[in-house]
Amino acid sequence: MLTRRGLLRVGAATTLSGAFTGVALAPLVMAKPAESGASALAEPEPFRTKLPVLPVLTPVSVSGGVDRYVVPVRSARAGILPGAVTDVLTFNGSFPGPTIKARSGRPVSVTYRNLLQDPLSVHLHGGSVAAADDGAPMDTFEPGKTRTYTYPNRQPHASLWYHDHAHHSESEHVYRGLSGSYLLTDADELALPLPAGSYDVPIALRDAHFDESGQLVYVMDEIFGRPTLLTNGKPAPYFEVAARKYRFRLLNSSNLRHLRLRLADSSPITQIGSDGGLLPRPYDTDTLWLSPGERADVVIDFSRYPVGTQLVLQNTVGPAGDSEEVRPVLRLDVVRKVHDPSSVPAILRTLPAQPEASQERSMELNMSQASDSSWVATINGKVYDPNRIDINVQQDTAEIWTITNPSEFVPHNFHVHLVQFRVIERNGGEPGPEEAGLKDTIRMAPGDTVRIKLHFNSYRGVYVYHCHMLDHSAMGMMAQMKIS
Ligand code: C2O
Ligand code: CU
Ligand code: CU
Repeated sequence: MLTRRGLLRVGAATTLSGAFTGVALAPLVMAKPAESGASALAEPEPFRTKLPVLPVLTPVSVSGGVDRYVVPVRSARAGILPGAVTDVLTFNGSFPGPTIKARSGRPVSVTYRNLLQDPLSVHLHGGSVAAADDGAPMDTFEPGKTRTYTYPNRQPHASLWYHDHAHHSESEHVYRGLSGSYLLTDADELALPLPAGSYDVPIALRDAHFDESGQLVYVMDEIFGRPTLLTNGKPAPYFEVAARKYRFRLLNSSNLRHLRLRLADSSPITQIGSDGGLLPRPYDTDTLWLSPGERADVVIDFSRYPVGTQLVLQNTVGPAGDSEEVRPVLRLDVVRKVHDPSSVPAILRTLPAQPEASQERSMELNMSQASDSSWVATINGKVYDPNRIDINVQQDTAEIWTITNPSEFVPHNFHVHLVQFRVIERNGGEPGPEEAGLKDTIRMAPGDTVRIKLHFNSYRGVYVYHCHMLDHSAMGMMAQMKIS
């Protein structure tokens, strides 16, 4: 009998051979990393490199109350694996992209210069922006052209991120490097005594498949074939910390991989925020689930460890999110004592109020096999069509959406553009404390049903919602709402 894992692997392989890349690639997916043998690059030894601190982008101008940035999007060569140079796609030459720091009430404009061979559309994930600035899948700009996006930042603080969204190539572009953090802060957040400055560290996590020469291999929907985990672009680096509290902004920028993170000694991690900024209250956990596109804002207090301690942050789940598999992500080395003036208050924020919902909808996420045995990814039975409006939403109303993943073995997740929503129910019960804040992306494990409440109170226009396993949205698991 086929196991869950076996089924998933068959699913992935069939998808590939049927719909996208041809039969020749199927064996690549069928083979587990270890089975692909001599040609595969040996797994890099962990803890050989320092955690890179991601560069913060400098504005070219701050006049007129607007921070203006110019970002070339170009290919580059990155040192990712020891002894190899890897071709990557970058924002401004860095892998992953540079961090943009913004403040609520102060607009940002970013001009991207497309120096690649493909059309691009840059999306600010989690941002409340006008439809023309959203980076919609079909709203692309051509090679050689520039495009300026304006972000008004009329929303509370949040750990956002930006990435390419050009339909059918977003998954490969993001995989090859086109993503970066966008940290929006506000006066409420700045008033809190949380760890700040160099004690507030963005960490982007993702998986990757390298060939024997250290090049990134992209195979559509290759859920089992991306064994190497990269932390800020390096395989399992180490980070020297002082014996005090640190804030880590964790982002899962993988295309497909769901992560379940723990400290190897099972000690508590304090989660203080999620996609849409701080949680109402912090809570302690030993496990963080992050599906692709989700963020977790956490505080770890290293003062509980003696100087000399080496603590490993691990991912503890297999590539499909359904089996145990322990891999190191980051080693935290406690190297010195220091005074720590920071603290985590018991109350972090008050969430914006939402009106009564005036509309209920259901969304079902599906991968099904067509008669020619190719796989089709749909929402409510339909493949994404940019010329079709799937739902009409009335401005200044709230809605409740019930999202279902009926599959027995395929994980999904769900992301809505424009709105930071609330999770009101997960599988018939209260959502966990990690979902008590504002969210723009939620995990949808096989069999999950999640109810969310969305308040449409900012822009009108057409926006997408989709599975953020980007290979799935590229395959059609995406739909459009029109707010009017
Ligand atoms: Cu992060 Cu529509 O995407
Ligand atoms: Cu988005
Ligand atoms: Cu999906």
